[in-house]
Amino acid sequence: MKHQNGSFSSSFAFILASVGSAVGLGNIWLFPYRLGQYGGAAFLIPYLFFIVLFGAVGLSAEFAIGRKARTGTLGSYALCWEEKGKAGRVGKAMGWIPLLGSMGIAIGYSIIIGWVLRSLGGVATGALMETESSVYFSQATGTLGSFPWHIAVILVTMLLLITGSASHIEKANKILMPVFFILFAALAIRVAFLPQAVEGYRFLFVPRWELLGQVDTWVMAMGQAFFSLSITGSGMIVYGSYLSRKEDILRSSLCTAGFDTIAALLAALAIMPAVFSFGIEPGAGPSLMFITIPKIFQQMFMGRFFAGIFFLSVSFAGITSLMNMFEAVIESWQHRFHLERKKAVCLACGICLAVGLLLEEEAKVGNWMDFVTIIIVPFGAVFGAISIYYVLGIDKIMEELRQGRKRPMPNWFGFVAKYIYVPLTIVVFVLGLIYKGIG
Ligand code: ALA
Repeated sequence: MKHQNGSFSSSFAFILASVGSAVGLGNIWLFPYRLGQYGGAAFLIPYLFFIVLFGAVGLSAEFAIGRKARTGTLGSYALCWEEKGKAGRVGKAMGWIPLLGSMGIAIGYSIIIGWVLRSLGGVATGALMETESSVYFSQATGTLGSFPWHIAVILVTMLLLITGSASHIEKANKILMPVFFILFAALAIRVAFLPQAVEGYRFLFVPRWELLGQVDTWVMAMGQAFFSLSITGSGMIVYGSYLSRKEDILRSSLCTAGFDTIAALLAALAIMPAVFSFGIEPGAGPSLMFITIPKIFQQMFMGRFFAGIFFLSVSFAGITSLMNMFEAVIESWQHRFHLERKKAVCLACGICLAVGLLLEEEAKVGNWMDFVTIIIVPFGAVFGAISIYYVLGIDKIMEELRQGRKRPMPNWFGFVAKYIYVPLTIVVFVLGLIYKGIG
């Protein structure tokens, strides 16, 4: 039975859409700094370990439950909990929490992508190249400072989603994601020719093995891998529901994780050599993207052109992630309330804009994103993992994972899923609370 919203036409289209969801701000404004800060190449050891583990066992589970239920977040949890009596009713109701996480991130994300579009506009008019970047950023994040750009982000995403679903998501990602990779590769090549770029490579890649002995290195690698793969107990489920039974989920999950890592490394190669070349302190988060990076482009030969490339590709990465967050919500409302797709799209986008307008300032959106990414989203991931591997049960999910796979599922899969992956999702949640954010 096909989903009412259609399905992806091939495994490649599905992987690109999932990469579109996974590659976002986490890859661009967090990964490069963390890579350098927590041991350079040494950080890659725990990071790749967690990416492979979470990709194989975590992403696969979310894709598989969506495909099995043939619907997204709410319907998938209803399937997991359907035979559990009273507890089942509570379980089904708790399925709203991960969905709330998708909506919550979409609200904050669309504000930040609004700042990205405003910066792109500033590059086009020249204003960003002539103004002190911290001043330009404080104007953007002042009360309603990016209002039209915020609306533009939501309108573009709405237009991409309103007339079609799986097929439109597929088309948008087939264009935006390859362009993102090409543009970031071009930037990485450009910055390689800057004087002292080598200092950036040293920061990123000279291994400091001693840092592997520190708990923080492992904690940050784990949180980063988790957030970067968009394991939220919600968004990836809906893409799984648009996947054909002929496709190999484990293979697709590992490919998604691989491309996500390539994107993160490309971002590091495009950003850090430039930061060091201009003698700026490396950092992470909004100040890296909206203050440090524009400062670099202001001083660089052909900087305006490359600044345009940078902000354009970041907006592509952001919009493809945003499409997934919205799709999780829209599909669930279509399924649960039999809402027409167009109405569900307008409602989700309307709520996102209405709440977002109250949060446009940097401090407010920062607190909001902390709350959603530290509490709601990791909780959703724990809930998803337990619902799939313990409540529905390993046998049923393995049966789904075998569909479309030519080779048998690896022997270790069930053990790792139940006794390593699920406890680790709880660890990510608890450590996130203690560290006030690790993803
Ligand atoms: N996985 C997405 C990111 O890294 C949400 O931004």
